[in-house]
Amino acid sequence: MFGLHYNLERHSIGLAIAVMVIASIGGLVEIAPLFTIDETVEEDPDMRVYTPLELAGRNIYISEGCYACHSQMVRTLRDEVERYGPYSLAVESQYDHPMLWGSKRTGPDLARVGGKYSDDWHVAHLEDPRDVVPQSVMPSYAWLSRNKLDMQDLDKHLAALQKVGVPYTEEMIENAPEDAYGQANPDSERAEGVAERYGEETNIRSFDGDPGRVTQMDALVAYLQILGRLTDAAEDQPELDDSALDEEE
Ligand code: HEC
Repeated sequence: MFGLHYNLERHSIGLAIAVMVIASIGGLVEIAPLFTIDETVEEDPDMRVYTPLELAGRNIYISEGCYACHSQMVRTLRDEVERYGPYSLAVESQYDHPMLWGSKRTGPDLARVGGKYSDDWHVAHLEDPRDVVPQSVMPSYAWLSRNKLDMQDLDKHLAALQKVGVPYTEEMIENAPEDAYGQANPDSERAEGVAERYGEETNIRSFDGDPGRVTQMDALVAYLQILGRLTDAAEDQPELDDSALDEEE
């Protein structure tokens, strides 16, 4: 064994080839499972895409670094499922580029936070977390209510995502800035187009309580309210088996 290594070390080409062979084993172990990805990731034809407003909110979520304190993946562990709800499925982040699963949890997981609180709660919480959760260590993001949302380049964001496989239609791309405005202005003419293109289930309302003006707060709250609600594939999960616990009691 050591004799073989000793000989290899004296033949640079042989050594180089041996290094490559050994390193490619490690590579294969990482890469080979990806070839079966089509069979391992479940599909859901009802999975809907982010609207332009929700996507703008997601961009703010990333640029403000919310992911540094919040994960977006409920793991397959009992305590997680009891606290946050059904564990996350791969299909739920199918259209997330980049994905925001994370593992750092200074704050709670947000994968299923959509619908858990009212819009008013989110606005108050983001403006000053201590107003609603006195012991919170989350920073305040009060300027989001003051900053107008820049919607002009949203069509390009949609087009970029379409290139990597998100099924946005040409019509969705063309109307992206109008749809972002319409989603936060339920009484405007543009609101109808949003429901038409993204489905009747879409939340169409003034998220920051101030219709007319579309702020970064509107976008971020629209995004938070859709987390975990793009598909209900996860609701079909089997119930936790309690029988083992009952016996112990
Ligand atoms: C320094 C870490 C930190 C950062 C950064 C941070 N948060 Fe938090 N977040 C927390 C903590 C801690 C809590 C729990 C206490 C509370 O509710 O305020 C929390 C709670 C929350 C909750 C309530 C979750 C629940 O289920 O009760 C939401 C929603 C939330 N954060 C959103 C955000 C968003 C959006 C951002 C970015 C704009 C953000 N957070 C940035 C630490 C952070």
